[in-house]
Amino acid sequence: MVDDAGVLSRFGKPKPKGLDSSTPILKIRHFLMNIKIATISDLKSITEIYNQAIDEEFYTADLDHITVSDREKWFKQHSPHKYPIFVAENKFVAENKAENKNVITGWCSLSSHRPGRKALESVAEISFYIHKNFRRQGVGKQLIEYTLREAPKLGFKNLFALLIDLNNASINILKKYGFTQWGHLPEIADFNGKICGQFIYGKKL
Ligand SMILES: CC(C)(COP(=O)(O)OP(=O)(O)OC[C@H]1O[C@@H](n2cnc3c(N)ncnc32)[C@H](O)[C@@H]1OP(=O)(O)O)[C@@H](O)C(=O)NCCC(=O)NCCS
Repeated sequence: MVDDAGVLSRFGKPKPKGLDSSTPILKIRHFLMNIKIATISDLKSITEIYNQAIDEEFYTADLDHITVSDREKWFKQHSPHKYPIFVAENKFVAENKAENKNVITGWCSLSSHRPGRKALESVAEISFYIHKNFRRQGVGKQLIEYTLREAPKLGFKNLFALLIDLNNASINILKKYGFTQWGHLPEIADFNGKICGQFIYGKKL
């Protein structure tokens, strides 16, 4: 069974997703969305968004929150000219206010696969995470489309994503962009007693 948030409910009732009651409802003005290379000042937002995915389970195999300083090494490994991290920055207009605000709503990275092995230089792993309050509004689509346009310019011929096999939202978005299942690693992940596998979804550019 697949719930509206896209996570198979094999393990009982999924955690609620969507807007926090504490978060004011904001309208995304898509025409004001900007995708740019992440800078170190975006790392706090990137980390917060990643930690949301950890809390939600089955979106990443990390189980414990990470800190901005934990993530600094990862950030430095992503040189903008070879392994970029792209962030989506949206300008928001509050429902009843004229006040504009720029918010990082998601990110998408290209990471090296087996760094240092020359024969694997034209393949990268794609990862993407959208702020939980701004999903289902096209941010993921725009980030992936942008990354797919940029990847060949960086010399990549193949992209793959690694995802927990219960992550239906990601499977759907990857299929939408022509990724197909290249592999399944069965029952390798243990989420505190809940065992599941990992898919490899890949695409030739
Ligand atoms: C997967 C994810 C990136 C989608 O981002 P998003 O901005 O919400 O997606 P979009 O609004 O652009 O939707 C794009 C498509 O994704 C699929 N999709 C997105 N959310 C979905 C859901 N909850 N259930 C099923 N399909 C979903 C649909 O095919 C959708 O196309 P449609 O709107 O035409 O139906 C987002 O849910 C997310 O950040 N998940 C947690 C992080 C994660 O799992 N990353 C993968 C590891 S690399």
